[in-house]
Amino acid sequence: TPLDRIRNFSIIAHIDHGKSTLADRLIQVTGGLSEREMSAQVLDNMEIERERGITIKAQTVRLDYKGHVLNLMDTPGHVDFAYEVSRSLAACEGALLVVDAAQGVEAQTLANVYQSIEHDHEIVPVINKIDLPAAEPDKVKAEIEEVIGLDASHAVLSSAKSGIGITEVLDAIVERIPAPKGDASAPLKAMLVDSWYDPYLGVVILVRVIDGTLRKGQNVRFMQAGTEHLVDRVGCFRPKIEQLTELGPGEIGFITAQIKEVQQARVGDTLTDAKKPAREALPGFKEVQPVVFCGLFPVDAADFEKLRESIGKLRLNDASFSFEMETSAALGFGFRCGFLGLLHLEIIQERLTREYDLDLITTAPSVVYQIELTHGGGYIELHNPADMPEPNKIESISEPWIEATIYVPDEYLGSVLKLCQDRRGVQKNLTYVGGRAQATYELPLNEVVFDFYDRLKSISRGYASFDYHQIGYREGDLVKMSILVNEEPVDALSMIVHRGTAETRGRGMCERLKELIPRHLFKIPIQAAIGGKVIARETIAALRKDVTAKCYGGDITRKRKLLEKQKKGKLKMREYGSVQIPQEAFIAALRMG
Ligand code: GTP
Repeated sequence: TPLDRIRNFSIIAHIDHGKSTLADRLIQVTGGLSEREMSAQVLDNMEIERERGITIKAQTVRLDYKGHVLNLMDTPGHVDFAYEVSRSLAACEGALLVVDAAQGVEAQTLANVYQSIEHDHEIVPVINKIDLPAAEPDKVKAEIEEVIGLDASHAVLSSAKSGIGITEVLDAIVERIPAPKGDASAPLKAMLVDSWYDPYLGVVILVRVIDGTLRKGQNVRFMQAGTEHLVDRVGCFRPKIEQLTELGPGEIGFITAQIKEVQQARVGDTLTDAKKPAREALPGFKEVQPVVFCGLFPVDAADFEKLRESIGKLRLNDASFSFEMETSAALGFGFRCGFLGLLHLEIIQERLTREYDLDLITTAPSVVYQIELTHGGGYIELHNPADMPEPNKIESISEPWIEATIYVPDEYLGSVLKLCQDRRGVQKNLTYVGGRAQATYELPLNEVVFDFYDRLKSISRGYASFDYHQIGYREGDLVKMSILVNEEPVDALSMIVHRGTAETRGRGMCERLKELIPRHLFKIPIQAAIGGKVIARETIAALRKDVTAKCYGGDITRKRKLLEKQKKGKLKMREYGSVQIPQEAFIAALRMG
């Protein structure tokens, strides 16, 4: 396809403003799918993604419209996947900004628009849901101009649901979004935008060709990985697969090259011709590394092999999570896994539970600490609080810090600032745009990974948006806090905390565990301790024997029911010494409330 006939774009939208519905309409109107095929939303294709309203794997669709080729690039929508988003955006020249005509501009949209502007995108405002009685397109136009600073006079008015304004959107894409630039005679340069594992095709690689041509049968070199592969398929999604013989400059499509593992196809890598390579790789490549680690253990020890297999399968499709075997005194065999963030962790955990039918215990998530050993013993990286060296062997501990940008409407600013303060944040900047504040904070990653995002959303009623990047390691006064249940340390609950917040955290943990652990026939002390020193304590009172006896004494069926219930419950509990701790306790205890 000649360059001037290509348009590459993504869609920016706040959750529920109609991104998926609009994408489906664009596909339908340009003839990609029939009405019946449309009934299942095409772009969000995983159940979990749909339920959580986020897209994890980028998908792209090629549309034909009035002699043009339009490539719609879907982007993942969560901070954990910020790097993937940046590569998807780098593959486009423009974006549709979809805003709900009744809701107006939301904070999250703002953060995404700024990213898109940073990539020099041409942004086409689309005011959607104009069919709603509460729609106020003029007010929303004014808001787009005031709050974002974009000219909204030519905004397209649409109803993705009723099919209004869809061809206008397509026309706007063709007319307003610039064609890509590229040099067909230069050596091949293509950006690896995404990769995933397909059971039939093997690893599928999504590419955006910058210069040169990518052909079936060509030997390509992955410049960052330093590997070479023979391209055996070239094609695009409509959204069904269509095979092609080549992709020219400016084009987006996929290739397969008999690659077995997604780890070999890293997002941001540059593909070039092995025989006639480009001199330099494309800028912006970043090795994504897991930042949050936790242990995953089967509730039933007999499930260990099944867990190993299932994790292996998930890993096939996700280069950004890592795992290695771990043994725990209390939990037996399991895996230490690394994730891009807490949401990433939750998604993997949920998939293991749901798709692979595993009951899991997740230990306290932890970031990676750098420990300097005494007597010139060098540095170690600590992925697991259980491996923390004795205090006398530690010279210093450093923890990763991030710079966070938070957008929030004025009315919630006070609570947001307090939250940042409570999490040891250092304010760097505070500005106002429209009725919204933009706060920049430096924060220890450790204070953010647990539940910062959830807290932020709840104190701002969903309006705050949050984006971050890592800014390196800083020394901190950090200590290991152990949790003792009935005098026994529970290694899965030990965590590294800042000395200044240890007591509050310890007290919170003990209080929550008191709620989460059922009563036993004896009294159970729950303690948080640093070294040998107890800093918080709660006690679970003993169950009075006669209470059970009285309640259930005479009634055999009720007694049996109770026993069965207990048996079932047991499957989801772990025994620590003589105490049973329910599975949910491990993660729930960490939520700081
Ligand atoms: P996420 O996938 O959760 O990010 O949401 P989204 O932005 O993709 O929104 P989606 O397309 O799933 O639409 C959200 C809801 O709005 C759905 O119930 C749609 O049916 C509805 N919707 C989408 N477009 C319109 C529209 O033009 N008018 C009306 N009335 N409803 C719409």
